[in-house]
Amino acid sequence: MFRMKIAAMLAACWVVCLGAPAADKGTEANPWVIGMSQCNLGEPWRVQMNADVAKAAEAHKNLKVIFKDAQNDTLKQRAHLEEFASQGVDLIIVSPKEAAPLTPPIKKAFRDGIPVIVLDRAVLGKDYTQFIGANNKLIGEAAGKWVVKKLGGQGNIVELKGLMTSTPGQDRNSGFRKGIEGSGLEVIFEADMQWLEPNARKEMESALARFDDIKLVYAHNDPAAHGAWLAAKAAGREKDILFVGIDGLPQEGQAYVAQGVLDVCFEYPTGGKEAIASALTVLGGGEVPQDMVVPSRYFTKENLKDGGAALEE
Ligand code: FRU
Repeated sequence: MFRMKIAAMLAACWVVCLGAPAADKGTEANPWVIGMSQCNLGEPWRVQMNADVAKAAEAHKNLKVIFKDAQNDTLKQRAHLEEFASQGVDLIIVSPKEAAPLTPPIKKAFRDGIPVIVLDRAVLGKDYTQFIGANNKLIGEAAGKWVVKKLGGQGNIVELKGLMTSTPGQDRNSGFRKGIEGSGLEVIFEADMQWLEPNARKEMESALARFDDIKLVYAHNDPAAHGAWLAAKAAGREKDILFVGIDGLPQEGQAYVAQGVLDVCFEYPTGGKEAIASALTVLGGGEVPQDMVVPSRYFTKENLKDGGAALEE
């Protein structure tokens, strides 16, 4: 009798102290709550990522996503993680601005028992549930090999790098250098444009002022490639230079390729759809691999009508 009373008291305390039992969660009436922290919504690619997350989540009435925009401010994004934790969300999706400063709050949320899915830009260490992203080293290397072929292994190159405290910037740089290794191509000008088109345009103006002979611009994203093209056009030199970008959204990079602004762009899938699929698995008690690589393609004027071509390993 005494034992039954204790069991009943414990069960009541479980409901009162810890909230409804898990079985009641994840229904239309009581949906799972996902906190999504986006590092900024300044570029079309990030708007697309949020749209991909929202669209995938819409199909599941047992899910609710709260979106937050850090407006390219690392401190704001750190605060998002703390806010989500104190709100008691069931899972966090985060696309971090920078690796090192976002690692501790992500680690804390994860160690406190909140599943965390990291999208696109990685963090340091392994304290997260899943990382989803394309292989930026492979994309950089494929871009390098494409350039070697296109320029016959000779020529001066400008490299406009993404934020070098973020992993895609680092990997797109090292991959590209590997891809052009052993060729006669020379990177004569390089600058960190921090993923931003206006910065890329300014850097390209400097490169054009300093160098008469530039054969190609390798930009770590399509907005930067477009900014560089605008600078070259203003100087009347856009026809002498080839432009390479990364992201490959239909409404951005692919459209630039169709217009002849870019010569090639490499797709960088957002992983938004995959993040929701993984969230559902994790919230349902299932397991997901810790790292998920999403495949990429590249687009040229010739292959656009076929939907691009797969990267060669
Ligand atoms: C958007 C963006 C993309 C790029 C990605 C890398 O902020 O700069 O253009 O591919 O981030 O993380």
